[in-house]
Amino acid sequence: MNFEEKYKPEKFSDIVGQDETVESLKSMKENGELSHMLFFGSWGCGKTSMALVIKNEFDIELIKFRAHDFMRNGIMDIIITIAKHVPQKTYKAVLLDDFEKLSISQQELLRGTMDTYSKTCKFIVTCNNTASIDPGILSRCRIYYFQAIQEPDAIKRLKFICKEEGLKISDQDLNRILNNAKRINSEGKVIGFDLRQCIKYLEDLCNRRR
Ligand SMILES: Nc1ncnc2c1ncn2[C@@H]1O[C@H](COP(=O)(O)OP(=O)(O)OP(=O)(O)O)[C@@H](O)[C@H]1O
Ligand SMILES: [Mg+2]
Repeated sequence: MNFEEKYKPEKFSDIVGQDETVESLKSMKENGELSHMLFFGSWGCGKTSMALVIKNEFDIELIKFRAHDFMRNGIMDIIITIAKHVPQKTYKAVLLDDFEKLSISQQELLRGTMDTYSKTCKFIVTCNNTASIDPGILSRCRIYYFQAIQEPDAIKRLKFICKEEGLKISDQDLNRILNNAKRINSEGKVIGFDLRQCIKYLEDLCNRRR
């Protein structure tokens, strides 16, 4: 199993950064409620991971779809059938990852489904930006922005993985990893890090040392 698989966050406490989102989800959990949600932000900052964490923390069924599933014929019928089917627990959640890959007409179709089965089926949609998301979908979701991972949070997770793997890592190695995984905005400013990339570089380093 590669590091990305092995160190997929399972609980809120495994997530680094994204504090406001975690706080909001914790209070939803306390109140026993769940909303339709949209997670947007840059690559490798925990959007898909958070959906998996929700599955575990809320102890619900999560059915996942990704961009390549949206190409399948009849995909919307499949999603609607799943939404219709009453869950064993209070809720089920349907994760639509890379949601911007759905056409606008597919997205529009989903509005009615979100409304009709909302008592038992919550949609979690993820995307990199909201520009190509149907306004009707945006209006139905609680919207959470996931910012690129900040340096102390990236270091915290990398050090955690090193500890689990029994690997000693120098500050120089950490800097090299971070340097390779920078997220840069249109003005050339570093806005944070892609943690998926950080973890891949750490794994490469680890493999070289074994
Ligand atoms: N905030 C985070 N806390 C802990 N681990 C994280 C976090 N963000 C990313 N990771 C790590 O990076 C991997 C990739 O993260 P994830 O798939 O959640 O990113 P994403 O935001 O959905 O990215 P993309 O937009 O590319 O789909 C995860 O398996 C996890 O190991
Ligand atoms: Mg994702």
